[in-house]
Amino acid sequence: MPIVTWSDEYNVNVEKIDKQHRHLLQLVNDLHSAVEARIDKEELKKMLIGLTEFTRTHFATEEQLMSKHDYPDQKAHFKEHRMLLRHLGDLVHAVSQGKYPTFYSDYDVSTDWALVHIKEYDMPLGIFLNEVE
Ligand SMILES: [Fe+2]
Ligand SMILES: [Fe+2]
Repeated sequence: MPIVTWSDEYNVNVEKIDKQHRHLLQLVNDLHSAVEARIDKEELKKMLIGLTEFTRTHFATEEQLMSKHDYPDQKAHFKEHRMLLRHLGDLVHAVSQGKYPTFYSDYDVSTDWALVHIKEYDMPLGIFLNEVE
């Protein structure tokens, strides 16, 4: 069962960002299903690395737009991106160490972080970009 479901209310109305967000949520859901199915740790690690890489690419997309338009809240937004990437990195590390994440306790980062971030940080960014672009 998907844990995060895309809804149009999450659109930030910047096509490139929305497209990446939909893909990001798909990757989070795939990861969740994989954990539920208790797939092999090496496979899980590959998926996590894939999610981390895509997240990095996505954050870079947003950060380029923020820099280009001198977004007033970019500092806090960049900081949040760094924090999320650090969590994902920790998760990859934990799986590399042989742990199997449950995603409901200390590995909570892969449950709803993507949606929380979209709502709290990317939506205001979307409003700003729609005003300046
Ligand atoms: Fe963001
Ligand atoms: Fe985003």
